Amino acid sequence: MKHVLSASQFSREKILSLFATADRLKRERKDHGVLDYLRGKLVYLLFYEPSTRTRTSFGLAARYLGGRTDFTEAAGIFSSAAKGETLEDTIRVLQSYEIDAIVIRHKERGAAEAAARVAGIPIINAGDGDGEHPTQALLDLYTIVSNVRRDEIVVAMGGDLKHGRTVRSLCRLIIKYAADDAKFCLVFCSPPELAMRDDVLDELRAAGIPFSVTDNLSETLPACDVFYQTRVQRERFANALLGDAAFLDVQTRFALNAANVATMKPDAIILHPLPRVGEISPDVDADPRAKYFPEQTRNGLYVRMALLLTILRPDAV
Ligand code: NCD
Repeated sequence: MKHVLSASQFSREKILSLFATADRLKRERKDHGVLDYLRGKLVYLLFYEPSTRTRTSFGLAARYLGGRTDFTEAAGIFSSAAKGETLEDTIRVLQSYEIDAIVIRHKERGAAEAAARVAGIPIINAGDGDGEHPTQALLDLYTIVSNVRRDEIVVAMGGDLKHGRTVRSLCRLIIKYAADDAKFCLVFCSPPELAMRDDVLDELRAAGIPFSVTDNLSETLPACDVFYQTRVQRERFANALLGDAAFLDVQTRFALNAANVATMKPDAIILHPLPRVGEISPDVDADPRAKYFPEQTRNGLYVRMALLLTILRPDAV
């Protein structure tokens, strides 16, 4: 594994190995604190879009493994991109400084691939516009399989499935992970104008993963083992008014709250990549089925530690 660009690049074996490494690093960190595996390595965080979890957890993952980080935040303004430099040139410059990997978040779909084409060092896609967010999918699936033990897991995804990159990557990762003894069934529950795009639906059909499309939240909630809620990606709408309308629609008709969550199975779990902006009411947070804080976010730390170790120190996996 050199670059991490899409959830589709992982095999079931690779996913299982990453999860086992995450488990191991979680234990080692508990026993030993800061580890030593990435001593002398520098991970560069190049972020053109806002981020709290992904940037912080990648940075801390590198440091908890004994490595170091450097970064550019708001790279569209604070890097030479603001002067018109191409992404490719920025990557060429950064790697001339003898760094070991670049974690990149960019507003354009395909940006991580473009960076990888000119990079001699590993490029990790931390979100490319409305394309993919493969490392989020890894931590999401890790959270799912460590909580839900069923022969077939019904994963409902809600909110903005059209523009959300996390749900696209999660579908693609599930396609790779699914097996005869790990079956999945997906339910896409959103307003029709925020429906999952056809490319992912076609991939699910080709992989034989059953799915259904609905705008009926009250039927979806009692039937699922996982409800994965997402935020309306207002910044990705060409027409801001349509974005505002979709945002209000999700907040009024599709939000999770203590009352509708009460209809879910007792052992179901509720996930959200975060940030949430009203589509899960705070009155759900104390429900033991709500895993978005702290378990899901914390899993991001261990899964990203596992990923960095696998890429930068494969001999230590
Ligand atoms: C997500 C993203 O950036 O795509 N955030 C994250 O990384 N946890 C989800 C979002 O922004 O809605």
